[in-house]
Amino acid sequence: MIIAIDGPAGSGKSTVAKLVARRMGFRYLDTGAMYRALAFHALANGVSTSDEDAVVRLATQSEVTFAHEPGDPLPSRVFIAAEDVTAAIRTPSVDDAVSAVARLPRVRAAMLEQQRHLGRDSDIVVEGRDIGTVVFPNAEVKVFLTATPDERARRRVAQQAQSGALVDIADVRESIERRDSADSTREIAPLVAADDAHQLDTTGLSIDEVVERIAQFAEGERA
Ligand code: DC
Repeated sequence: MIIAIDGPAGSGKSTVAKLVARRMGFRYLDTGAMYRALAFHALANGVSTSDEDAVVRLATQSEVTFAHEPGDPLPSRVFIAAEDVTAAIRTPSVDDAVSAVARLPRVRAAMLEQQRHLGRDSDIVVEGRDIGTVVFPNAEVKVFLTATPDERARRRVAQQAQSGALVDIADVRESIERRDSADSTREIAPLVAADDAHQLDTTGLSIDEVVERIAQFAEGERA
């Protein structure tokens, strides 16, 4: 079974997707981390994020891979070209560069192929922006998570505070809105809910409540 979880930045996708995967004993794939790793790699190599040929070259030469901590069934480390970029892909400079990379059609085609390969043959939770619409349109369970912009900014600030970063909530909200607008209006695979997705506004819900609802959708499919 494939559980596709899509939604904008800060909608709670990662937290929820990992917990659903743990609860169901499924694998987990974070497709945003793949675009982030490529954006970081482009910045680190002085490649312009609007130079499609050069970014595609990087994407085909430099594989994105995931690794598990000992004893943890879910992958938590991200590598590109064998470099551990787990922390490096969560910085404001990558936040600001990633949409430019993700809008390039041939970059998306390369990612799509890798994502379908990584998601083949087994039970998996896959999170992103176009999972239910493009990557796995036949996913048995599709969920589109939303939350108000203020709530999403608050969550991002809390997440970044955990790693010691002090950020201004107004800046975070502006960055989230810029990214949403770029991701929603691009020509290829824009951020949009699939017609058959369950739409869940998580603003007033606890994480456990969201996980519970998604697990119920999945159990309903299995029954
Ligand atoms: O989920 P995230 O914030 O880590 O994703 C980072 C960026 O990657 C996001 O701004 C848009 C892009 N993305 C995408 O275009 N398609 C996906 N399936 C996942 C992410």
